[in-house]
Amino acid sequence: MTRTLITGASAGLGRALGRALATRRHELILTGRDPARLAALHAELPEATLIAGDVADPAHRAALATAVGPELDLLIHNASLLGPSPLVPLERLGSEQLRQILEVNVVAPAALTALLLPALHRAAGTIVTISSDAAIEHYAGWGGYGASKAALDHLAGTWAAENPGVRAYAIDPGDMRTAMHQAAFPGEDISDRPLPEEIAVPGILALLDNAPPSGRYRAADFTEETR
Ligand SMILES: NC(=O)c1ccc[n+]([C@@H]2O[C@H](COP(=O)([O-])OP(=O)(O)OC[C@H]3O[C@@H](n4cnc5c(N)ncnc54)[C@H](OP(=O)(O)O)[C@@H]3O)[C@@H](O)[C@H]2O)c1
Repeated sequence: MTRTLITGASAGLGRALGRALATRRHELILTGRDPARLAALHAELPEATLIAGDVADPAHRAALATAVGPELDLLIHNASLLGPSPLVPLERLGSEQLRQILEVNVVAPAALTALLLPALHRAAGTIVTISSDAAIEHYAGWGGYGASKAALDHLAGTWAAENPGVRAYAIDPGDMRTAMHQAAFPGEDISDRPLPEEIAVPGILALLDNAPPSGRYRAADFTEETR
């Protein structure tokens, strides 16, 4: 049985990954802030452990580590904060808004990983951070979020360098038709973007199956391999 923790698992990509890994008999620990959304997910995945809370809250991270126990095979840092919707130029992104983005997208995964590294080592486990092309491209309005994803990519590379025996991947899932994507493009028709289940999830699963060396990858590159 593969023990897996997914943050931000109550919607979008995180929920789609949880559903897919449940069919592969992963023992799931799933988290998100909204208890009602988690309750709905529990009805669908009754065997999963669901813990409501904010990844930016140290008490919630401690509760997750307790739920994980001594061994963890797979840690997926998926929860993320986009910032204001509509997006604003960097000069208009307030310091407090930038601090919140960094808190959720960088500080929280760093702190949660630190808590869980012993459990990951015991299982020779894998860390996945969900990245974005905004980590390496420069788009107007995406500066705060993009900087946070660039920092998260850097954390993943450092975990790999510091922890032989644990794999660490930064994975760009590509554009997906989700609430976050709609918030980035308010009022726009995003129906041409694929659902998480269409490209990102099969790509991430294929990557995990192939177990390439630690590094930064695009989910779409692995989806194409499985076609
Ligand atoms: N959608 C895209 O086009 C796209 C492209 C590139 C990368 N990504 C990345 O893909 C990942 C998933 O994004 P998505 O589009 O699926 O987003 P989404 O539909 O908005 O889902 C985000 C999930 O994270 C949870 N969440 C948000 N903030 C949280 C927090 N502070 N603590 C705990 N849970 C939190 C949300 O639930 P609650 O609100 O209940 O907490 C929800 O379950 C993110 O890392 C995102 O940056 C997305």
